[in-house]
Amino acid sequence: MAAPFPKHPFLTGHAAPFGAELDAPDLIVTGALPADLQGTFYRNGPDPLYPPHPDDKYHPFDGDGMIYAFKIADGRVSLRNRWVRTPKFRAERAAGRRLFGVLGNPRFNDPSVSPAEYDTANTHIWPHAGRLFALMEGCPPTELDPETLDTIGYETFDGATAGPFTAHPKLDPATGELFAFGWSAKGPGSTALRYNVIDAAGESASTQWLDQPYCSMMHDMALTENFAVFPCLPLAFSLERAMRGQSPTAWEEERSAFFGVMPRYGTATDLRWIEADPTFAYHIANAFERGSEIVIDVAGSRKAPLMPDSSGRQPAWADARMTLKRWVIDLAAGRMREESIDDQSLQFPRIDDRVNGRTNRFIYFNGAAKEANSRIEGFDSVSAFDLEGGVRRSYTVDGSFFGEPVFAPRAGGREGEGYLMALEWRPSTHTSALVILDARNVADGPIAEIVAPARVPAGFHCHWRPA
Ligand SMILES: [Fe+2]
Repeated sequence: MAAPFPKHPFLTGHAAPFGAELDAPDLIVTGALPADLQGTFYRNGPDPLYPPHPDDKYHPFDGDGMIYAFKIADGRVSLRNRWVRTPKFRAERAAGRRLFGVLGNPRFNDPSVSPAEYDTANTHIWPHAGRLFALMEGCPPTELDPETLDTIGYETFDGATAGPFTAHPKLDPATGELFAFGWSAKGPGSTALRYNVIDAAGESASTQWLDQPYCSMMHDMALTENFAVFPCLPLAFSLERAMRGQSPTAWEEERSAFFGVMPRYGTATDLRWIEADPTFAYHIANAFERGSEIVIDVAGSRKAPLMPDSSGRQPAWADARMTLKRWVIDLAAGRMREESIDDQSLQFPRIDDRVNGRTNRFIYFNGAAKEANSRIEGFDSVSAFDLEGGVRRSYTVDGSFFGEPVFAPRAGGREGEGYLMALEWRPSTHTSALVILDARNVADGPIAEIVAPARVPAGFHCHWRPA
């Protein structure tokens, strides 16, 4: 008998746990599915199996990873969702209750479990070399069967990625290589950063050991044609704080930001840290080189959303709201300057991945046309921002919540020629749909909608895997 969940904004409404696995063979589709859209839309997100310890506090980054797969083939769409069978999930399911502290906080761990086993695999879903991986930054990639979503197990690439592995690796579209890192790579709180290159065939090509100026919770990295950039931002991790019963991760305002720049095939001796004023971003849309500068476009905020400061205070909305910003790293001067691209609140920025690491024209995101609709758990619109001319084009539904949009290219097309796909939750009817937009004409609204047979809870990241 499972216990009820506590009252919490991220355990109710759009974010309420779904708690079931479904197979739906043939979904209702309205509009016209494009004939060249064949493949699978995957979405990862938290769906906690059991409530936390009564004295522990839930966090939206916690929750067991649940994968949704909408498979589009020959005009028909099926849906399957499955939890990732992590060691944590299996142990808790066997026990019939929660055994781990929220976000792995050791203070609330059951004596039967080890802190190192905390893995929700709930953040991203990433195909590579014909395989599929659920990613969460505290653990190695978890391989899943791309069709059945059955959990196969950890993949460490012969030990190269044993330990933490980012949920945001970067693919080079020209070479097919995957560039990735893991923070706290020599134990919780360590400043060790492991930098991995996985080749197009899915073999480990390089592992470099780097060192951060302090233990920053590094969620994303930037990749250009020649450089890798590691943002060490003042969202810092402290094991001592956890043992005092506080959040191990907190915003430490007194710290500088540092940008670690190195040739992407370089070693630790090539790494150079460039110091800057405190700033924050969970997510990097893209990065490219411009003369002696590295340009990085991000969903940036003044402080880290959803994370307390060292005294336990949550940031004010004005400090936590994310907007499109540009970090310009001047390699000659050794400085970083921040610019604003757009002032609308947004959550997850994406691009046409065929230009990843190169100059891009478009950034896609779920954002808030009405600031009142702008909250971390949902946004009322899907937008395409055209960096040539600085124009934002949006599809907005007042009252709906859109998740991360993912770009599906049209075969042979240029950048931006293809489709945007995003999950929309409609609270008035308690239903969800996968909407498909023409990425060049987002404001025209969906060209097709795939109706989910049940509410799809709020989640994190998505991937399109063409057939
Ligand atoms: Fe993320």
